[in-house]
Order: sequence, then structure tokens, then C-alpha cells
Amino acid sequence: MRARALPITIALSLGCTRSSGIEDRIAALLARMSLEEKVAEMHGQAQTGTFDGTYHTPDNTRLAIPGFHMTDGSMGVSQGTGHASAFPCGAARGATFDPDLEQRIGEAMSREARAKGANVLLAPVINVLRHPSWGRAQETYGEDPYELGVMGSAFIRGAQQNVIASAKHFAANSIEDRRFTVDVRMDERTLREVYLPHFRRAVEAGVGSVMSAYNKVNGFYCSENVHLLHDILKGEWGFSGFVESDWVLGTHSATASPRAGLDIEMPEAIYYGDELIQAAQQGTVPISAIDDAVLRILRMKARFGILDGLPPVDPSEIESTAHHALALEAAEKAIVLLKNDRVLPLDRARLGSVVVVGPLASLANLGDELGSPAVDPSHAVSPLEGIMAHAGALRIDLVANSTLSAADVATVQAAGAAIVIAGLTDKDEGENTLRGWGDRLNLGLSKSAIAMIQAVAAANARTVVVLEGGSAITVEEWIDQVPGLLMAWYPGMEGGNAIAEVLFGDVNPSGKLPVTFPRSLDQLPPFVANQDEVQYGYYHGYRYVDQSGTSPRFPFGFGLSYTSFAFDQLAVDSSASTVSARVTNTGTVAGDEIAQLYVGFPGSKVDRPVRVLVGFSRVHLMPGEAKTVSFSVDPSDLAYWDTASAAFKVEPIELAVTVGSSSRDLPLAGKLAPH
Ligand code: BGC
Repeated sequence: MRARALPITIALSLGCTRSSGIEDRIAALLARMSLEEKVAEMHGQAQTGTFDGTYHTPDNTRLAIPGFHMTDGSMGVSQGTGHASAFPCGAARGATFDPDLEQRIGEAMSREARAKGANVLLAPVINVLRHPSWGRAQETYGEDPYELGVMGSAFIRGAQQNVIASAKHFAANSIEDRRFTVDVRMDERTLREVYLPHFRRAVEAGVGSVMSAYNKVNGFYCSENVHLLHDILKGEWGFSGFVESDWVLGTHSATASPRAGLDIEMPEAIYYGDELIQAAQQGTVPISAIDDAVLRILRMKARFGILDGLPPVDPSEIESTAHHALALEAAEKAIVLLKNDRVLPLDRARLGSVVVVGPLASLANLGDELGSPAVDPSHAVSPLEGIMAHAGALRIDLVANSTLSAADVATVQAAGAAIVIAGLTDKDEGENTLRGWGDRLNLGLSKSAIAMIQAVAAANARTVVVLEGGSAITVEEWIDQVPGLLMAWYPGMEGGNAIAEVLFGDVNPSGKLPVTFPRSLDQLPPFVANQDEVQYGYYHGYRYVDQSGTSPRFPFGFGLSYTSFAFDQLAVDSSASTVSARVTNTGTVAGDEIAQLYVGFPGSKVDRPVRVLVGFSRVHLMPGEAKTVSFSVDPSDLAYWDTASAAFKVEPIELAVTVGSSSRDLPLAGKLAPH
């Protein structure tokens, strides 16, 4: 049997959101526009008058075409617009493995964006977390392309109830320090299978815009990359929306960019002003390229109601009670229980007192404060505040410093349990803006934080560490000394409450790692932050550790619970490409399990990962309850990129199907024959 090429038309039809009514309307508008008016659609414009904190493109008053008003939104609507709800960061939301929740977050964020006058939300970030050192790791959903696609599409579906979403940054943007210059090189197969599938899913979900990345891919800036923009995004995938550049240093020319398919230069016209008008007049940029860009922009303005004037959203929706509840739900579902030697949950009735330790205890840690994801909620709950609010009759002491005095040690010794809040902040990682850097080259905690954990653990046998941060943190120096460990990420404005609920058992932890936690940097591919050319290999994340046969500290998909789950009754239906399994709560408290489906490719004639994630399902179970989870396998997730024929192919081999609770705990095994 020969390998079969996959039809790309599925993607084409889904990504293509053209309706004849809209097409007629925008064609008629275009016919009335001068060249100057067309080019004016294609660039940002500094705002005059009262600054509303959004990025504008010009209004066309003659033809009554409103401009775009764009705002950032990976964790909440940008601080530039004033107060807004701060949701847990992207990595945290990746840890929820809950697309339904992500859709509701996208919708909530878009309501707040619209209440602030925006009609474009510059989110979601769906770059592959190739390495946890990336400064913007916190903004994306994790390392797995399948999960990125599913979560990103969910956000888009929610956000696009109200505004245009923008999937960013297209593509292979995963280094911060040299993001403006770095040339990310990789072979076509790696590009197609690892760095692009989630963007294709975003297009299939109908995303209205895509932001090109700052970096180069294989020698060409993403904003002038014909292969990425013209051939793949707009050609093969049939994307009918518009592409805007990343800000300021994201556009490099008035000719190569419009010819490649960059439709809008943001935030101002450096190239897409007079220079572009001249280039069009001289024919160095064909008028057809300008028309295509303007049609794409008008199409989205029509589809999203912008041409007709979007009705305002009431500002009372900003930071509403419902959005607080959503931020809390996300933070609760995002917390990952990484270690529990019978220390958690903390028993309020028996412990008498608890000491909370560390300089981060009183900080509502929202992650990046300088970069584009920074959000400014009116109030955010710190871990200490949350713990105090949930402590009941327990006495809560605070040791706020990391270097413990003799008196501090005595306080820690006397406490029924110690909770150490440690991890990363805005000072350790973030977007390369005012900082001039962003990547985190050392994955461990600071020396002072390590010493603090060790000192507390030596003084109190019931020590629980709560980590905050945007991606993997290495824990080798101290993990064996502490019986309890939670990963809380940057948990958003309700984070402190969620941390407290999990610590006291009011909420059963259910998050799973969307990124591999290695023992050390050598378990990962090299991360090069200081060169203008880097080579990306085919493997990263769990695929890399699986291939190299090492065992990470905490594998992708891992997370414990206060209850236990059993998996059985695997059923594979090859003709329908479906897999199902039964999950039973075998413990004594209610909880959520995230069942995960992986496939392997035994007998493949090409190099394939040991396993790849192709499905997941969050299921809530009462003690003793069992439910069947079902997965529908998308053939595009089984395919490999065949370089010789330049097409995706599904091999006629029996695939190894495994189901379980993490990438390294897969009790059920079966076979699936793709058809
Ligand atoms: C970031 C984008 C962001 C833009 C506007 C850029 O520096 O890379 O993610 O949307 O600024 O704030």
C-alpha cells in the first residue's frame, strides 16, 4: 500500500469565510477608493486627541469606513486601556486542558476589549514553547502543537463573538533576546509538523487576523516571507482575513512585504505610507497586491460588523463579578499538584497554625508587567491574602524575607505546616521591550529562594512549596527535601484565592503540565538567545525527552490529584477514527481527570516521535463514578510531511494508541489503522 496524500481542501473550505453578500459589498467599496485611500487602510496611525490606549488604523470619513482599534490581550485587555480583568497567563490556561473554559475566557476578554472601544484583540499567542527559556513562555499554551491548536481555536471562537482575534506571532517566534533579528532555520518537515499546525487550526476556526512575527524564518523576515504568508497561509490554507505586522520593528520594506502578503503595517506608516503609494504608482508593487490587502481588511470589517458600527459594550462588564468568577475557575483548574507525600490538603481543624514564607507571599504575581501582555486589574489577590481569607480558625504567620533569622526559624518550627511561595516574576522573564532582554537562561530558582526553601524544609516537616512562573522551573536542589509542591503559574487576579482553596482542599487540583519540567537543561535541546541565526531541530519538549530516552523530573501532561483515577475499557474504531476509554474515580473525593490520547508510529519508514498527543478530555467524577471519554482523531494529526512530494501523508501502518493520565503514564494500549 502506498502512503496517501492528505486533502488540503478541508482546511481550505473552513478557513475561507467568504459570503457573496459581503464580497459584493466590499468589491463595490474598493471600486470607489483612490490609491491613497487604499493605502490608508494598510497602516496604523498615532492617535490624536484623548488617548484611549488602543492602536488605531485611520477612519475613512468620506466612505464611512471605520478604522481598527487594536488592543493586546494574552492575559487580559492591555494595561494601556486602564483597569481590566487579569486572567491566568497562557501557560496556566494551557494547564487546564479545558477548551470550553478557554472559549469563555476569550469571550470575556473580548467583551472587555469592546467595552474599551477596541475591535481587534491581539491574541491568542500560539507559538510553540520550544524551550522553557523563552521569555514569553507565559503567554502561550505550552509545548504541544495539538494542544496549542485546540486551545487557541477555543479562544478565537470565544473572542470572535465580539471582536476580531489575531493569532500571533506567525511563525516560529520562540526566542526573545534577539527576536528582532534572529533567523530561525529549520527544514520544511519541522516547519510543517511542529511550528505551523496550530496556526492552520486557528485559520480553520475562522480567525480574522494573523500577526507576523519579528524574526526571520529560513532567511526571510516573517513580514516578507512569501512561503509563510503567500504560499501557506493564504494559499494552501485559504486564509481570507488580514495579516498585520508586529509592532515598530516588524516591517522592513514597502515592496517585499506587500508582495509577500503583509496587509497592514503597525503601529504607524514607516513603509506603508508615501513609499507604498509610490511603489504602487511605479509598479514595483502590483495594484492587485494592494487591492487584495484592502479587500481582506474590508472583508473582516464587514464580517465583524465594524463597517456598520459595532454597538458599544457596557463598561460595567469590565472586571465584572462574572469575569472574576471565570478568572478564579481558570486559576483553580490550572494549578498542578506535582508532589504530595501525604502533606496536602492542609487540615484546618488539626494544624493550629500555618506559616507563609517568602517575599512573593504578599505579591499578586501577574507575570510580565512591562511587555504587551501586562494587565492592570483594580485588585489582585496575593497568596497571603487568599490564605488568610480561607484559613478559618487557623492562625497564619508570615515570614516575608527569604533569609531566615533565628526568630523566623522558630516561627517555622512552631507552625503546623509551612507554605513557601517561590518562583519567578517580571524581573526574571518577559517580553523584550523596555528590558532589552526577556529570556531566562537558568531554569532554576535564585540562590536565595533555594536557600529559603531548604531552611524552611529543615525546620518544618510539613513544608509545601507553591511555585509561580511562566514555564518549567528546575527543582533538583530541593525537591527531595519537601513533601509538597504545587505549580500555580501566574494565576491572575484571583490567584491567591485559588492557591488557598487547593492548599486547604476546598478545590481538588486538576491541572496538568503543558510543558515538560526537565531535571536540568541538558535534557532539552539547546536554547540560543544571543545569535542572529539558530537552527531548530525536529524534536523539542516531550518528543525530545522521549526520543533521547531520559526521564524528566515531571513529564508533559503530568499532574496529581487528591483522589485517584483508573482507566479501562479502551475501544478503538479505526473506520470512524475514534477512541474511547472509561475513567473511574477510585478515591474518596470528587475530582477532574484529564484523559490524554497519544499515538505512536511503530514501523514507520520515517523518523517519528515516540508518541504525540492527538486528543485530551477533562472529565469530572464523583467518588466511585465512572465515565467514558471519547476522542475523535483528526487524520491531519497522524500525517507526516513528505519532503519528496511536498505533501502531508498518512502512512498505511497500524498506529500504537495509548490513553492515560500523562505522557508517561499510559495504562491503556491499542491499535488504530488509519484509513
Ligand atoms: C508584541 C506583540 C504585541 C504588540 C503590540 C509587540 O512588541 O510582540 O505581541 O501585540 O507589541 O503591543
